[in-house]
Amino acid sequence: MLVQQFSARNFRCLGNIELAPDKNYNLIYGANASGKTSLLEALAYLGRGKSFLGAPTTSLIRHGEEEFVLFGRLEQGGRTTAVGVRNGREGLEVHVDGEAAGGAAALAALLPLQVIGPEIHDLVGGGPEHRRRYLDWIAFHVEHDYLELWRRFRRALRQRNAALKAGEDASGLSGWNAEFVDLGVRVDEARRRVLETSTESLEKQGHALLGSTVRFEYLPGWDSQRSLEGMLEDNAARDRQQGSTQAGPHRADLRLIYDERQARRLVSRGQQKLLACAMILAAAETAQAERAQPLLLLLDDPAAELDDESLRRLMERVIALECQVIATSLEPDALQFPHAPAVFHVEHGELERTG
Ligand SMILES: Nc1ncnc2c1ncn2[C@@H]1O[C@H](COP(=O)(O)OP(=O)(O)OP(=O)(O)O)[C@@H](O)[C@H]1O
Ligand SMILES: [Mg+2]
Repeated sequence: MLVQQFSARNFRCLGNIELAPDKNYNLIYGANASGKTSLLEALAYLGRGKSFLGAPTTSLIRHGEEEFVLFGRLEQGGRTTAVGVRNGREGLEVHVDGEAAGGAAALAALLPLQVIGPEIHDLVGGGPEHRRRYLDWIAFHVEHDYLELWRRFRRALRQRNAALKAGEDASGLSGWNAEFVDLGVRVDEARRRVLETSTESLEKQGHALLGSTVRFEYLPGWDSQRSLEGMLEDNAARDRQQGSTQAGPHRADLRLIYDERQARRLVSRGQQKLLACAMILAAAETAQAERAQPLLLLLDDPAAELDDESLRRLMERVIALECQVIATSLEPDALQFPHAPAVFHVEHGELERTG
């Protein structure tokens, strides 16, 4: 969906701001600490119900205030949807067209978005949980029953771990194993399908941004030569000792291969950013193609760490996606768009349209 109208109250340094973004390109510029990241984070919160910087909710509420409130009017095919989010002492409250709606998952379905921001290097250099979340985001938007499957798998994992901690013997565990294996294998299969669907896009984006081959190697979370069931049996003693399940899709990872070498430690900081951008653009392109509707892409200071040529290539790829773009920069003319973007200046948490 497209964001037609957005407002935020008491979110980080933002007192009360309103933004009517263009359906294509938007640029928000301002000095350091003026509120650019805060604004993008508020927009991302509307589509995720959580911070893209991993910040706890209490740190997102403006100092001295009790809660923050976000509102968005979203548009798709002539139909508008009003989304309201409030978070404070009572926790997250979500309203869609005036009705209370289920939390973060309802937001994610309404406003699919991706962020290219300061934390993006984690996708390449950070722990496997970043890449699992990445993979699950695509799966959530491409396979419509994935969220339910993933939740059921998490529940089976929790139950099995509780049984392990309670010291249940093999016969006590076998009931939990069956469900864990059934759901775990289905999560794994969905992830494999999703990777298959997005692989061409990743290769294309990687080639355009880095001029070299980029691909994923999928690590399912257990020895792929073996059945998950067999692994659970083999690991039983260790699982019991540790009180948690060692093998399964909750341990999956993606190994990123760049130029036929494992990317993680070899690439420079700028290359790491470009690899992560290729991943994000591939995810966005895949989800957008499946859903046949434009995504929201938030670019927080995309120029940081990139030379002119790399930034030019990145913007070219971003524009080719034809999604709604909201970007930030320190200067008003730092980014190239095919036609003039809507331009906003931010200063001390106040927003003003300047072009
Ligand atoms: N909960 C909060 N309440 C009030 N102010 C906050 C809160 N959280 C962060 N801030 C302040 O908001 C200001 C703006 O931060 P923000 O990250 O949005 O700046 P920015 O424009 O992105 O800067 P930069 O160009 O350095 O990335 C900072 O001074 C920060 O300390
Ligand atoms: Mg910032």
